[in-house]
Amino acid sequence: MCGIVGYTGKQSAITPLIEGLRRLEYRGYDSAGIALGTPNKLFIEKRAGKLANLEAELGVKIPTAQSGIGHTRWATHGGPTDRNAHPHVDNEGKLAVIHNGIIENYTQLRTELESRGHKFESETDTESVAHLLSDLRKSHKGDLSAAMREAAKYLRGSFTLLAIHSDAPTIIVGVRRNSPLVVGLGDGENFMASDVAAFIDYTKRAVELGQDHVVTMTPSAISITDLEGNAVVPKEYEITWDASAAQKGGFSHFMLKEIFEQPKAVADTLVGRLDENNHIVLDELHLSKQEIQNLKKIVVLACGTAYHAGMLAKYAIEKWAKITVEVELASEFRYRDPLIDSQTLVIAISQSGETMDTLMALRHAKSAGARILAVCNTNSSTIPRESDAVLYTHAGPEIAVASTKAFLTQVIAVYLIGLHLAQERVVLTGVQVKEIFNELLELPSKIEQILETVEPLRELTRGFAQSTSVLFLGRNVGFPVALEGALKLKELAYMHAEGFAGGELKHGPIALIEEGTPVIAILPASHEHGLDEKMLSNIQEVKARGALVIVIAQESAVVTGATHIIRIPDAPSLLQPVLATVPLQVFAYEMAVARGNDVDQPRNLAKSVTVE
Ligand code: G6P
Repeated sequence: MCGIVGYTGKQSAITPLIEGLRRLEYRGYDSAGIALGTPNKLFIEKRAGKLANLEAELGVKIPTAQSGIGHTRWATHGGPTDRNAHPHVDNEGKLAVIHNGIIENYTQLRTELESRGHKFESETDTESVAHLLSDLRKSHKGDLSAAMREAAKYLRGSFTLLAIHSDAPTIIVGVRRNSPLVVGLGDGENFMASDVAAFIDYTKRAVELGQDHVVTMTPSAISITDLEGNAVVPKEYEITWDASAAQKGGFSHFMLKEIFEQPKAVADTLVGRLDENNHIVLDELHLSKQEIQNLKKIVVLACGTAYHAGMLAKYAIEKWAKITVEVELASEFRYRDPLIDSQTLVIAISQSGETMDTLMALRHAKSAGARILAVCNTNSSTIPRESDAVLYTHAGPEIAVASTKAFLTQVIAVYLIGLHLAQERVVLTGVQVKEIFNELLELPSKIEQILETVEPLRELTRGFAQSTSVLFLGRNVGFPVALEGALKLKELAYMHAEGFAGGELKHGPIALIEEGTPVIAILPASHEHGLDEKMLSNIQEVKARGALVIVIAQESAVVTGATHIIRIPDAPSLLQPVLATVPLQVFAYEMAVARGNDVDQPRNLAKSVTVE
């Protein structure tokens, strides 16, 4: 969490800094601040609340400066106040620091620094770094990069830090450990940021930084070293995202735009994945047929929405490839001595590729000898970098905090993995795989169909805006969909929402139903084991207790007991979640709008959660 941007170059720094922060606000929006590289004393401005508060404060009083750093915060240590906002400065007001992550040994550091006479202004862990760097810079004869290397050796925890000093204001120094930082290479100007989205309007050339690398940036050059000062050769890559993909493009919110981008995102994730011999093409997996046949089990690790994609992976992979799949919340995984070895394939699913819980779980699995496959949407982020292989989803930049298109593409990606494994383990034939693949190919136009007819659902949703609680019911693959629908509603509408397996209803949750409680039920596509009929019985059970039931049902399904029916196109059972999720996303979106909530930046959340 927290967004970081640094600029040094030929233009007035305020423009790329503010633009960059706007693009990074998804990472946190508790406060925003900048330090501009004005000589003698830095110009600092910071304000609690969203970037707009900082902009209002800045007004026209911006001094001329061609370098600076900017920060948008998701609070960890110290509340979201002006004083706790970044940048933090040394006592001379000459050195400023911004930080993403947590400095775990900050209390000890602060005590030491205070005993040496440093005065602290805030309650943050970050401020200690400003004071520490100030001392270290003096002992390194004014060399800020050397001071940063020294400081990083002392610091524990996860951090990206950027620093600037008014004695040499065109130099920005950064370091990263377990937290993202990328460099953007411009012409006579250079950038640093948590994410390429911050500088994509200015350059498509980026450099990824490794663990514990320190980067020193001037308008004309960058140099990278490790903490011992050894030079590191920069690894440059081209950013393939289009700048326009990060704009709202006429939609009122990024979330709505991203919901409508889903047909394309799903189609892009499927492109080129079946060859003329009916083989799933997933060369990136780097697993031989033999290794696949030797696999004992698969463990899926993920958080939040990605975890729900992981749950769906279990249904598909077990059915198609006949291999055991366990799905675990990444934050729980490493605390229970999980049984994994070199015959375990771990699939780490993460949109951002930076989620700390997932990263830590992945590292744990790696140290136990498992093979790690990342399913990720963000190029060159930490999780794919630390994995043995990566399958990128092609959702494009997802800006809204609540995940939509990334989720659908994650589901497609894990389904492709399932089909590939099934083929290599000789469980499914080429013809069977082709049949399923063709069904997958039909999903984009079916999603489009749902989106074209979404208006009545939006109207219906507004009628429930005063409800206090919404329950979601699903069975089989509809269960993760119910969980995802409830999560979206919590995130966006700040309502009590829970997803249940239809069969569990009678074991407790049914007590929550009272007159008028809205219940959204996903009617299974499958008649197998009478699943659809069992859900119809569940619908009757809640209806009999006063619930208003909205049923998500396929076009051909016979529905009884519904107060309202939302139709989605027919699809095979395993593929239905890709369609059934879409109305639930729209429901949560519309509810948030109706309740006057901030759709793209819901309270207390952040998109990329880089703390455990
Ligand atoms: C945060 C976001 C969720 C997201 C989860 C996992 O909690 O608010 O929307 O699903 O992180 O993120 P990842 O980037 O790992 O998919």
